[in-house]
Amino acid sequence: MATADELASAADLVKGKNSNCPVAVIRGSQAVLREDGPGARALVRASHTDLFALGTQQAKELGRQEAVELRRTVRTWSDKPVDHELIGECVAAALTAPAPHHTTPWRFVHVVEPSTRKELLTRMADRWEHDLAADGHTPESVRKRVERGELLERCPELVIPVLVLDAQHDYPDERRQMAERDMFVLSMGAAVQSFMVTAAAHGLGTAWVSSTLFCPDDVRPVLDLPTPWHPMGAIAVGYPLGDLTPRPAREIAEFLIQK
Ligand SMILES: Cc1cc2nc3c(=O)[nH]c(=O)nc-3n(C[C@H](O)[C@H](O)[C@H](O)COP(=O)(O)O)c2cc1C
Repeated sequence: MATADELASAADLVKGKNSNCPVAVIRGSQAVLREDGPGARALVRASHTDLFALGTQQAKELGRQEAVELRRTVRTWSDKPVDHELIGECVAAALTAPAPHHTTPWRFVHVVEPSTRKELLTRMADRWEHDLAADGHTPESVRKRVERGELLERCPELVIPVLVLDAQHDYPDERRQMAERDMFVLSMGAAVQSFMVTAAAHGLGTAWVSSTLFCPDDVRPVLDLPTPWHPMGAIAVGYPLGDLTPRPAREIAEFLIQK
């Protein structure tokens, strides 16, 4: 196996890196290199036969642990473009989330068309302005608040997580019906967290913001979503302007309660 590699290594014993001799002549190699062979593919080992997998495994786990801490809400972006395949990897990670009734109740709409993004954000801003005005805010305060939503205009990539509720069980009372819905919403949170942690592992920043959650009827027609599909905010994705910085550790004792 890998005989040519072995011969190349052996050649280095006689020519070396600093000996001013760039060439070694190997004779008699036909005996061992009779045919082309199956190529490098034959050298790729299945992970369970990889004797050196432990270091790789540890490095991956370390990477994952760091990514959990590096997942912070990012609101300023660099111009570096995001490879769309990375969005696919984030979605693949999201699809590993737990969900009720053995369902897969998540979809992710990657808004790639600038005109679609514009239409979506315009309709959402209109709805927001309308709601704020109805709450009694002055036009000046409405303008200031809506300007803060501008994050989704600036972010390099925009992904809308969508919760599919058609596999919900029906209950006659509100208590159980709300718990049923909560189960699905919880699973969306788990999926989005996996999405964002995977993004962080690739050096990408994310911001999961509420946005579409508050105006589903304005969002559905723009993204062609059927009625039982509920937009669950928006995930802004892109390379951060500065470094991703982990949050300082919180005091576990305040959050872990033993009874
Ligand atoms: C469901 C949800 C909705 C959020 N909505 C907004 C939002 O509308 N605008 C915003 O700036 N941040 C939003 N955030 C981000 C939070 O402000 C942020 O997660 C929190 O401050 C903690 O900071 P970190 O994400 O950097 O750990 C939202 C987070 C979640 C989970």
